[in-house]
Amino acid sequence: MASGGFEAFLEARADEIETALGAALDPASPLLSGTPERLLAAMRYAALGGGKRLRPVLLAEVAALLGAPRQAALGPALALECIHCYSLVHDDLPAMDDDDLRRGRPTVHRAFDEATAILAGDALLTLAFGLVAAEATLAAQARVALVAALARAAGAAGMVGGQALDLGAETLTLSESEIATMQAMKTGALIAQACEAGAIVAGADAETRDRLVRYGEIVGLAFQLADDLLDETSDAATLGKAAGKDAARGKKTLPSLHGQDWTRRRLDALVAEAEALLAPFGDRARTLVELARFVAIRSR
Ligand code: IPE
Ligand code: IPE
Ligand code: MG
Ligand code: MG
Ligand code: MG
Repeated sequence: MASGGFEAFLEARADEIETALGAALDPASPLLSGTPERLLAAMRYAALGGGKRLRPVLLAEVAALLGAPRQAALGPALALECIHCYSLVHDDLPAMDDDDLRRGRPTVHRAFDEATAILAGDALLTLAFGLVAAEATLAAQARVALVAALARAAGAAGMVGGQALDLGAETLTLSESEIATMQAMKTGALIAQACEAGAIVAGADAETRDRLVRYGEIVGLAFQLADDLLDETSDAATLGKAAGKDAARGKKTLPSLHGQDWTRRRLDALVAEAEALLAPFGDRARTLVELARFVAIRSR
């Protein structure tokens, strides 16, 4: 599959995720009945209507590679996307990156108000755990393992911790390894969690799970590296979010430390590493190979 082929595949899968996420955010769903109307509207605005849906698609592809039925991956995949969407809502807040544009539309605090954006983020985060707990196609033991993995990846030792390092570094100088640690936490943790969750859904052995988590960590590093590169090289119309903001806010990124040529070479090396990790799966892992390549050369 050429990378254009993968993009078409991703878009088709993203449509399926969008539909399922719409149902999960239905006012009549048991986890949400009674939600104040404006809060639910902000949650739906934050989660629906755009987004590449890379994390849920990755989770579902890992689960499928390891032989799990597609339905079993859905709840965990939607949960992860809810957490990702919440992380974007909070990332855009005035107290954090202070952005007005996301997925080609006003950010949640612009379309609603700041307090509603904070609460919509809180509610999406909480909903995620409800979705995993309620996934009836999974054994109770798998649900508990998923909740634990999600909590670790999303929390203080994962995404939230990475965001704290990112904000704290605006006025500091960071070394290359400090930047890599921050990236691994703020972005890598949730992407690796997609792989871990896919492996848990499929009941994979520890060795297989660890190999796929390592692949997820590499994809996560590449993902943030590409995001930082696009911030320097692209524009808001293409990205659907502001460009050129990282330098303006003093963000510490590897492209700013080493330049764009170095970054492209590093992306190539990460893709090669991801491919090597998938080699034991042979042709069955073709989609995951294409996903890693897409992440590195994406334009959005
Ligand atoms: C943006 O994530 C935030 C980062 C971790 C760099 P995505 O690029 O996956 O955002 P959407 O979901 O496609 O909008
Ligand atoms: C965000 O990184 C990572 C998150 C955990 C949301 P960025 O701040 O670079 O993401 P964008 O560029 O705003 O999407
Ligand atoms: Mg940020
Ligand atoms: Mg940001
Ligand atoms: Mg960015």
